[in-house]
Amino acid sequence: MGKALHDKRSEMDRRYLRRALELARLGAGLTLPNPRVGAVLVHGSTIIGEGYHRRAGGPHAEVEAVAEAKKRGHEVAGATLYVTLEPCSTQGRTPPCTGLILREKIARVVFAATDPNPVHAGAAMRLLGAGGVEVSNGILAEEATALNRDFNWWIVRKRPWVVGKIALSLDGRITTPAGDDRWLTSPEARRVAHELRWEADAILVGAETARQDNPRLTVRLPGRRGKVQPWRVVTTRSGSLPRTLHLFTDRYRDRTLVFQGRPLTEIVAALGELGVSHLLIEGGGRILTEAFASGLVNEVTFFIAPAVMGTAPRALEELERPIRLREVSYAEVGGDILCRGVV
Ligand SMILES: NC(=O)c1ccc[n+]([C@@H]2O[C@H](COP(=O)([O-])OP(=O)(O)OC[C@H]3O[C@@H](n4cnc5c(N)ncnc54)[C@H](OP(=O)(O)O)[C@@H]3O)[C@@H](O)[C@H]2O)c1
Repeated sequence: MGKALHDKRSEMDRRYLRRALELARLGAGLTLPNPRVGAVLVHGSTIIGEGYHRRAGGPHAEVEAVAEAKKRGHEVAGATLYVTLEPCSTQGRTPPCTGLILREKIARVVFAATDPNPVHAGAAMRLLGAGGVEVSNGILAEEATALNRDFNWWIVRKRPWVVGKIALSLDGRITTPAGDDRWLTSPEARRVAHELRWEADAILVGAETARQDNPRLTVRLPGRRGKVQPWRVVTTRSGSLPRTLHLFTDRYRDRTLVFQGRPLTEIVAALGELGVSHLLIEGGGRILTEAFASGLVNEVTFFIAPAVMGTAPRALEELERPIRLREVSYAEVGGDILCRGVV
């Protein structure tokens, strides 16, 4: 292939993979513990089918893209399939996508990230290559890998990716003074907090937060549907939790789990075994401290309100070792600062 042709092809590969990444993002929060995956099927320079993985147990992105192309009367044989993640090669809840690709005589497959799942990793390259399909990979791999941090972590360790979230004042306090009925953070920040819940399949709080705040820990995003209510997890030593709390009485009461007298490390491991791949810890301060001290937190999301509260408790107690972040981002949300980073 000449250089000009080669450059044109890589430019097209990137363009269609970018579209596949956009599609994959539509599945955010809905596919867990499966990965977010998007696919685009192209014949010549025409997109003939698109798809994304919409929910765990549902059709894979590749299947959706092929089905859409056929529904629209397009010839699939000879097409190029762009997919954000290496196609699966084993029978899971659905048949392997490598089989579909071979059966449909797709000529070329371009995928971004390799599947870290040990039963798949690299297998599609071999199977498809042996079947005469041209395979390219690694383009936009970093972006595609970042899209599935939680899945990538969980699938090899069977422990959830843990996000530590808290709202705090400039003096590091997490409550407003007694009698002050205003929230610590803005409505916009609280909306983002619901976005964080949308991404999770479990939300954990300490018993004191459950007792003081009586939280619902539900995902409330007007106009957004299809999310399975995440598990609501409370950790307690005393076991003293009023049965009148929303967590025990509302319509999601079957989604509430209480762990009594179990170290956080054990709780996180148990949740992983249950299929939880993305755990959001929403405080309070003592639970968050324990999560940091036990090395359990993978990602940090702090909302910092421009106020000095002077209240107790603090967002964090003493830690033996400091926690430093990388891939840090800052954003202003309704007058508060949202600081995120990976531990
Ligand atoms: N600003 C924010 O983002 C935010 C978020 C959450 C909460 N809050 C506020 O924070 C306050 C509560 O925070 P907090 O630091 O006092 O308490 P917390 O972290 O919510 O809960 C502490 C409780 O968790 C249980 N616990 C702690 N370590 C444990 C362990 N190793 N194993 C099992 N259970 C354990 C104990 O429950 P038992 O006492 O039952 O044994 C302990 O009293 C509330 O006022 C709430 O409003 C603020």
